[in-house]
Amino acid sequence: MPQAGPALAGPDDTRGPCRTLPRSHRRAARRGRDWSHGSAKEEALKTIIEPFRIKTVEPLRMTTPAERRAALAKAEWNLFRIPAEAILIDLLTDSGTGAMSSEQWAGIMRGDESYAGARSWFVFERRVRELTGFRHIIPTHQGRAAERILFSCLGVSGRVVAANTHFDTTRANVEYLGGRAIDIPIAAARRPADEHPFKGNLDLEALEAILGGSEGDVACVIATVTNNSGGGQPASLENLRAASGLCRARGVPFYLDACRFAENAYFIKLREPGQGDRSVESIAREMFSLADGATFSAKKDGLANIGGFLASHDDRLFRLEEELLILTEGFPTYGGLAGRDLEAIAVGLTEVVNEDYLEYRIASVRYLGEGLMRAGFPIVRPPGGHAIYVDSGAFLPHIPPREFPAQALACAFYEEGGIRSVEIGTLMFGGLDPVTREERLAPLELLRLAIPRRVYTQSHMDYVIEVAEEVARRKESLRGFRIVEEAPHLRHFTVRLAPAGGGHGVRGPAKAETVEARDAAAGGSRPAHGATAEAKSAAARTERPGFRGPLPLWERRA
Ligand SMILES: Cc1ncc(COP(=O)(O)O)c(C=O)c1O
Repeated sequence: MPQAGPALAGPDDTRGPCRTLPRSHRRAARRGRDWSHGSAKEEALKTIIEPFRIKTVEPLRMTTPAERRAALAKAEWNLFRIPAEAILIDLLTDSGTGAMSSEQWAGIMRGDESYAGARSWFVFERRVRELTGFRHIIPTHQGRAAERILFSCLGVSGRVVAANTHFDTTRANVEYLGGRAIDIPIAAARRPADEHPFKGNLDLEALEAILGGSEGDVACVIATVTNNSGGGQPASLENLRAASGLCRARGVPFYLDACRFAENAYFIKLREPGQGDRSVESIAREMFSLADGATFSAKKDGLANIGGFLASHDDRLFRLEEELLILTEGFPTYGGLAGRDLEAIAVGLTEVVNEDYLEYRIASVRYLGEGLMRAGFPIVRPPGGHAIYVDSGAFLPHIPPREFPAQALACAFYEEGGIRSVEIGTLMFGGLDPVTREERLAPLELLRLAIPRRVYTQSHMDYVIEVAEEVARRKESLRGFRIVEEAPHLRHFTVRLAPAGGGHGVRGPAKAETVEARDAAAGGSRPAHGATAEAKSAAARTERPGFRGPLPLWERRA
């Protein structure tokens, strides 16, 4: 990686795959631990570098600890509420935060902004079809728009959607439409410390049971590749083939949530027997060929700052999707995007399968993971494709899940060094069950440090590791939080928190807005909050899909 800060490491430096490593270590790093079956290319030189150089730079603003403490209190300990200007290293997400290449910027200039039939649409469509093979391609402004259109048109109300792990927006869109999202990862995925090459696999026994009707009618099955909420872990080709076969035998659509398809395909190349000699592009094409459709956020492996698509082979479903697309996103040849975005995505979808890029990408994530482990943090192992996940429940056992240990850690990283990360635990996935109205706990309390693509250098990662060491030194002093106010869906984005145990006066909204209040004002007929679950899901079934949720917008906690 470029050495913006420290001097180049010498040949004996074994701190990580991005430094100069002994050749044997470096080969192991390329191939990925003991499961390696890949025939990684032999090279004369040992250092894995960023396969690009920097043409434009964006200055970072330094802040003091006092400024950061004040920012945290003002944001009510919700890092989404902190202005990006007050962040030094932003590891909140790898979504839409990547740096575009000179070719992508050239595409931006070529963008054709015609309303209908723009040249840029055909460039985009050609690349997506070449890669995925799908007959129907619908451009969307981002991944969640594809999810909403898909679940609305499939009709998930009162039905089950099963996935290795639903991402937060995926789960929320299923539940918003009255469906039930069930996660069926393999057992190893629930054990952060276990090493397993494909923790993103679906549990095939659980899948068979669900397809057999154990949980009700199944609307579709989703493999999230890589599995973001499960540690950025890949699914194997073998597992995808088996899951696809089971779904096809039952006539249930099998979808990929393909946001990080290239990182997943690269792990397959490195780790799966018999795949080492294939190109990432060819592995990716096989992954898509196993699916009946895909949702995609181009903000990840599209290497773009915005965009997405929804794709399938299903003519009938496509007609419904296209109708909803026109109603809510835009005409089918731009779908909520500018022509220039379509160009940038088309180029990104080619650059992302470049294996020099993927080698650097996976190595830089692993470098951070190994540094955090040395600093004493238990992480989800092995390191994922786009992020490192700290098992915060294990790291801070004195903070119970209901007080959000990963959020405590996220705030500590910000306070200590201006680093923004995100809680992926009970704050994100807990909340009130939409049917039972009981408080849910997440299976794991994770802190995710996601690495934007092609943005930070090795010295940035060294800084993050140093901050982590400081946080580890004062871990006993960290305290949890309680919720002051939350939304019923995706509450982590807007939640207001206060330190657990009280003592901090925090502001609520002037007036808690509810859907009933809005509907009453508009003369509407939404089911009242507190109506029975049956009444709510009956109401959801009779509504035209996609426009209304059964729950109030805001809830204040006592
Ligand atoms: C696995 C997964 N699915 C879906 C999405 C939603 O994509 P978007 O943010 O573009 O709506 C994300 C975003 O982070 C994701 O990681």
